[in-house]
Amino acid sequence: MDVKVTLLPQDQLKPLYDDPLKLKFGQNFTDYMFTVIHDAGKGWHSAEIKPYQALQLDPAASVFHYGQEIFEGQKAYKSAKGDILLFRPEENAKRFNRSMKRMSMPEFPVEDFIAIEEKLLKLEERWIPQQKGAALYLRPTGIAIEPALGVRPANQYMFFIILSPVGPYYSTGFNPVSLYVCTDFSRAGEGGTGAAKAGGNYGGSLAGTCTALNKGYNQVLWLDAKEHRYVEEVGAMNIFFVMDNKLVTPPLGGTILPGITRQSLLELASGLGIEPVERRLTIEEVIESIQSGKVTEVFGAGTAAVVSPVGKICYNEKDYVINNNVTGPWAQKFFDTLTGIQYGELEDKHNWVHVVK
Ligand code: PLP
Ligand code: COI
Repeated sequence: MDVKVTLLPQDQLKPLYDDPLKLKFGQNFTDYMFTVIHDAGKGWHSAEIKPYQALQLDPAASVFHYGQEIFEGQKAYKSAKGDILLFRPEENAKRFNRSMKRMSMPEFPVEDFIAIEEKLLKLEERWIPQQKGAALYLRPTGIAIEPALGVRPANQYMFFIILSPVGPYYSTGFNPVSLYVCTDFSRAGEGGTGAAKAGGNYGGSLAGTCTALNKGYNQVLWLDAKEHRYVEEVGAMNIFFVMDNKLVTPPLGGTILPGITRQSLLELASGLGIEPVERRLTIEEVIESIQSGKVTEVFGAGTAAVVSPVGKICYNEKDYVINNNVTGPWAQKFFDTLTGIQYGELEDKHNWVHVVK
């Protein structure tokens, strides 16, 4: 794909951050962005890398009315050798396309997705933090831009990528977070869009997130929409339980985001000496197992959240503390192994690391 590149004079580049570990998640953006347009009958065209700028969209653009919007979240890391590393970018490109398809939006070629990210990252290399714990977050996004109020798939789309240097997602850093089990709202129902990374899923989840935050918890823990019994996932990460020395996580059934970090932890588990199990578990089982000591650790996993230990779960207005609210050995082991691979410190036995050339 041909990409037109418009560069800024050196003296118009933004000043860099001081300490990337102190950056608030997603509040700082780099100098450039990528955009490409899709028209029905014409396909993708007018690919551009240009200075970071506001989008000019018609107020009738269908994204504003019917929510055809999907996104991805990835990180670029800097290895000690100075290489730029991406973690399993093909998986993000493929999930981007699955989300696009679910929202009746056009797919984008996987090879071009990765080639464009490489081009952007080379141009923006100075923004990729050297410090472990910080990274350059990539936000590929698809939106419907045709000005049309009829309820039908749009005839024009934009795919853009913006980049944001980030530190830890939670203000707690790698210390345990607290979760509030939402028992009134649901995140996703069967046959809905829960498995797509669609903005609407997040918009709909904010009421539950607000309840959790207002009550002093870091995130919401979602249950299934039908019975409000089965544990699904957290607001911005998948969830894992260490039970009887097994690594248990809810199965993907269309209502949970198929996290790439989740899949990676499941693939790493056996090699680290713990059996991975995907099965449904009720919130009652979780609470009883915390109380009996059968659950020894709980942690979340996601690109932004990495591996985040969970120290406390509130269910029906009662708190249940896990592992004395301190990081447990399995959370630590998965965190160290995953980040070791992502930053190029550990051998990449699974061939997950993509070196940007
Ligand atoms: N679940 C939700 C709702 C998320 O927003 C995320 C973050 O992307 C995840 C799970 C984890 O997915 P991944 O590991 O691919 O980042
Ligand atoms: C991610 O982990 O990349 C996410 O998208 C989570 C959240 C910031 C939406």
